[in-house]
Amino acid sequence: NVVSINERYEDSFTIGAAVEPYQLEGKTAKILKRHYNSIVAENVMKPINIQPEEGKFNFEEADKIVKFAKENDMDLRFHTLVWHSQVPQWFFLDKEGNQMVDETDPKKREKNTRLLLKRLETHVKTIVKRYKDDVDSWDVVNEVIDDSPQNEKGLRESTWYQITGTDYIKVAFETARKYAGKDAKLYINDYNTEVEPKRTYLYNLVKDLLEQGVPIDGVGHQSHIQIGWPSIQEIEDSINLFASLGLDNQITELDVSLYGWPPRPAYETYEAIPEEKLQAQAERYDALFALYEKLDNKISNVTFWGIADNHTWLDGRAQQYNNGVGKDAPFVFDPDYNVKPAYWSIMD
Ligand code: G3I
Repeated sequence: NVVSINERYEDSFTIGAAVEPYQLEGKTAKILKRHYNSIVAENVMKPINIQPEEGKFNFEEADKIVKFAKENDMDLRFHTLVWHSQVPQWFFLDKEGNQMVDETDPKKREKNTRLLLKRLETHVKTIVKRYKDDVDSWDVVNEVIDDSPQNEKGLRESTWYQITGTDYIKVAFETARKYAGKDAKLYINDYNTEVEPKRTYLYNLVKDLLEQGVPIDGVGHQSHIQIGWPSIQEIEDSINLFASLGLDNQITELDVSLYGWPPRPAYETYEAIPEEKLQAQAERYDALFALYEKLDNKISNVTFWGIADNHTWLDGRAQQYNNGVGKDAPFVFDPDYNVKPAYWSIMD
């Protein structure tokens, strides 16, 4: 008698949800405990929240999530040690307070690069040491490949990259490996990992880093997807491709938007969504989880980027393109925490 999502998939992979600390109480806490055996912070473990000022670490919110995971015997994913977004700007200022990227003197540039990598090492080391007994999977770097590449390798030209090249990626992984628990796994995480040319750029980067001995254990596929995109075949090919490098795969931020791109026109409310749309979404979830199950020796975790349709970053995205109006509904629980057609398709 199957009663929960994580039980349904217990022979295949763990099932996770992204959470904000306020969701660790009440109804959401209840659903989390019943249906998921893994969690990840939606925001509070990002660099800007953990080290807003140099040397001033703020673990209060992050600790709440760690505690909840422990108390409920859940796995914990850490998101994310390094990112180009939600990173405090002090990282990239030299000792005089000038932007490192503007420096033209080669000697000073070299000094800046060393300083930035030192700061990165301190950030990673401090966090990983603190949570080494708690975290099972670390997103070490997030979104280092570009959607519309400016260079031949497809590397995102973030401030990190402009100052250090790919050294920031290496230092982050090496430092994380040095301090992480021995069973903890280190991931390179990105979106649109199924789609060309991004998939090939990511593959080439990971292969190159592995050849240099950089300790990468797996690829995190964010999977912010749509009902009709990308194709199941593309998703399968991508998992197989990275598995062929001997790597684990995790589905790290799954949500199935009701919309195409751009998300227009969007439904005004959840009630305005036609039943056929939710059915189509359920069929998509059915195909998706059938694929994950088929590839379960290559996938160790499937995490939804939220719990229920009352809290999703996709609403903000829909509203951004529709004059402030728009509701998305990407999950298997509706805004009142009732099960949706998609719930039954992943349970059957
Ligand atoms: O906490 C502040 C609050 O104090 C302030 O009053 C309010 C005003 O805007 O902002 C709050 O911060 C917001 C934060 O979410 C917490 O709600 C940020 O503005 C907002 O930008 C932030 O959005 C998050 C986004 O990452 C940031 O880029 C989303 O919740 C989060 O779902 C999203 O997650 C990302 C993954 O980390 C990486 N992959 C893509 C995914 C979706 O964009």
